[in-house]
Amino acid sequence: MNRDKSEMEGFHRLPRQERIGRLARHCDLDAHDVEVLTGERQFSLDVAEHLIENVVGFFPIPMGVATHFEIDGRLTYIPMAVEETSIIAAASATAKWITRNGCITTYSRGNLIIGQVQLPSVEQPERARQILHDNRDLLIGLANACVPGLVARGGGVRDLAVRTLDRPDGSGRSMLVIHLLCDPCDAMGANLINQVCEALKPRIEELTSEKVGLCILSNLVDGKLAVAEVVVRNIEPTLGRGIEEATLFAKADPYRATTHNKGILNGVDPILIATGNDWRAVEAGAHAYAARSGTYQPLSDWRMHGSDLHGRIELPLAVGTVGGVTRVHPTAKVALKILGISHADELARICAAVGLVQNLGALKALSTVGIVKGHMQLHAANLAIAAGADIHEIARVRESLAEVLRVEKTINLSRAREILDALRGGRVVSGTPTSIS
Ligand code: MEV
Repeated sequence: MNRDKSEMEGFHRLPRQERIGRLARHCDLDAHDVEVLTGERQFSLDVAEHLIENVVGFFPIPMGVATHFEIDGRLTYIPMAVEETSIIAAASATAKWITRNGCITTYSRGNLIIGQVQLPSVEQPERARQILHDNRDLLIGLANACVPGLVARGGGVRDLAVRTLDRPDGSGRSMLVIHLLCDPCDAMGANLINQVCEALKPRIEELTSEKVGLCILSNLVDGKLAVAEVVVRNIEPTLGRGIEEATLFAKADPYRATTHNKGILNGVDPILIATGNDWRAVEAGAHAYAARSGTYQPLSDWRMHGSDLHGRIELPLAVGTVGGVTRVHPTAKVALKILGISHADELARICAAVGLVQNLGALKALSTVGIVKGHMQLHAANLAIAAGADIHEIARVRESLAEVLRVEKTINLSRAREILDALRGGRVVSGTPTSIS
């Protein structure tokens, strides 16, 4: 649906019921979807019982929507399931800032996931390679016969590549690794490709007279990359240079690059969780891709071009809109509805875009006011709850903590407890050091 930008204005200030109502209207959510979102219709423990072993309960994480994301010209709400307080606020504020004077565009590079079949210790690697190459079409045919449904949807195994690696045990022998390159269509593809790899094992052993070791997908999905680009026109020059400088720091120092990339994944993981995707797989792939040159690097790059700031991110993103729990978990189904998408490729590109915007928000704050102010203001609610404030007390403890933060530049749990005690004791709780002692 093409949305009017004004519909997202003031969204965060609306009372929750109105927020949900607005979201439902604009994303065509029905009463059932709303009940799923709000928890009135609970995910049954009896269903959970079939998803994992030894189910004893649930671990609820709040789900919110980030606003003001206009990606490839389409305005969309971004569902994010996350416990870190400042993430949705920062993503929305940064997206709004970009929308005013810039744009977010995305594209994909490749659609192939990788399945690995390992031949751990091969005496005559060249002979085995030749056999595998000579039987390439046969093996691809057998592979596709295992996944007729995928082939019918237009996907399937497209190619086979053989890599020779030295065994790192000093034996002087080689390890061969067969890569099966597969288009999983809208699935993440882990189950599909694992089945294909295992199904080929006996035939590969028979053909090569070598023993097959592991059969498993690779999470370094460098044949399926999502790319996002952001342009902020006429950026204030000091700010633009500050963001460029922050990128240089990340390029020079893996200690900084790790935190830089964590800030990107702050935007990606909550969408993966909300849509029932395997965020551990994406995390592993993203970090490995960041280290592909041999030195751990930032996944994003920010540069000034004249008076404009340009940002780009490229990362492997094997995600699904079918398969796994995406179509089983009721909240994941609603999250996909909120996004208004049905294809995995769109989901991957949205994840990349939100990751890049989240990164920009962090770098913008870090290179100007610092992260503490915004972060801790929002974190005050966590402290209030941790201190034991009940639902009617949270707002007042939070206000007092904000005042303490303004005056003392720091807040913590014991400060929150003092404020709560003072509030309950009927004392003044303005939050300055003198007023609560
Ligand atoms: C905090 O969750 C994320 C940041 O540390 C990211 C960064 O430093 O770029 C703020």
